[in-house]
Amino acid sequence: MKPCPKCHKEFPEDASFCSSCGYSFNDTLDKAKTTIFPQGTLISNRYKVERELGKGGMGVVFLAQDTKLDIPVAIKILPKILSSSERAMKSLLREAKLSMSLSHPNILRIHNLEEEKDEHFIVMEYVEGKTLEKMIEEKERFTLEEFLPIAEKIAAGLDFAHSKNILHLDIKPPNILIDNAGSVKIADFGIAYQIKDNISRISGKETSGTLCYMSPEQMMGERVSRKSDIYSFGALAYEALSGNPPFHKGHIPEQIRFKSPDPLGNVPEHVNGAILQSLDKIPENRPESASEMVRMMKGKEGEIQLAVPETKPLHPDIPKDKINLGNLMRLRTKQDGDSALSWKNKKKHWKMYIRRDQENE
Ligand SMILES: Nc1ncnc2c1ncn2[C@@H]1O[C@H](COP(=O)(O)OP(=O)(O)OP(=O)(O)O)[C@@H](O)[C@H]1O
Ligand SMILES: [Mg+2]
Repeated sequence: MKPCPKCHKEFPEDASFCSSCGYSFNDTLDKAKTTIFPQGTLISNRYKVERELGKGGMGVVFLAQDTKLDIPVAIKILPKILSSSERAMKSLLREAKLSMSLSHPNILRIHNLEEEKDEHFIVMEYVEGKTLEKMIEEKERFTLEEFLPIAEKIAAGLDFAHSKNILHLDIKPPNILIDNAGSVKIADFGIAYQIKDNISRISGKETSGTLCYMSPEQMMGERVSRKSDIYSFGALAYEALSGNPPFHKGHIPEQIRFKSPDPLGNVPEHVNGAILQSLDKIPENRPESASEMVRMMKGKEGEIQLAVPETKPLHPDIPKDKINLGNLMRLRTKQDGDSALSWKNKKKHWKMYIRRDQENE
């Protein structure tokens, strides 16, 4: 067994990635690691390094002081393997420029893409706070009331970028930064994916996106769209409310392609409906926007407070001994016919209710 350097969970020696946080164990990426800058180093004659903020699969992020503007900034040093490819740097620069054009309170600002000798680095807004990953780790899971305001802000940022035709493609808890006053910022817009995708191309090793949050179409290298971000947002919500992403044990790629996620056990029906619909294998079946998913999660006013499913009757018109999927479908098709839930998800919910009801007997 070997520990994941990022999240410290144990994995077999031959594992090529960490199924918990997505860290890649492969050698090429180890060589692609970035230079470490000691405290006090002046980068680009402007940014004075203070300390390391954290490590991702692709390198290190430092806190530095921008001596020109006298503000703290976060600096992500790009892996050398990327800096040495002109083509990769061109596409990254193109993407960084797009991201820089995104001005929204819930999107982390990128200030600049800088170069010094053969090092390239991204200078961005510094957030004094925690990643959503860290918060989930500390809390184990969020309650719905705690998570909804965060989800609303993530959705606002995502929808704004989508309205400008910019995709994130690496939405996951470590890329959500929450400051001490509670403001929420989506980090690494477009850039995380570009970095990973280009390293994949140069090294020939699969690294784009982070597996546990990746939609089936992105994993398969098929056409991606805003629905791919909505899938990842659904996986993030699933983890925030349950403590784990939808698929995190066993052969994850196969589950992403073929397995329906288990419904969450501790949330009302409409919340499960929203999250499971966003995790639908077919992009067209997912909610139209991230905010739409959050609206579905909120349900009708007051519904959040209800302690469904234990107390809610499956259907008032069906005697308990007649409750089965067929009866339930016949009676509820009319009621639920116009709701945004896909057929498959409706069936899944009803089955879950039947199971719950039997367990509660
Ligand atoms: N702008 C920022 N302000 C404050 N801390 C940051 C900032 N950006 C990154 N960090 C910290 O640095 C850590 C590493 O970030 P990084 O984006 O390199 O990795 P990641 O998102 O966890 O994984 P990946 O390798 O998939 O990008 C984050 O978990 C966070 O703690
Ligand atoms: Mg990141």
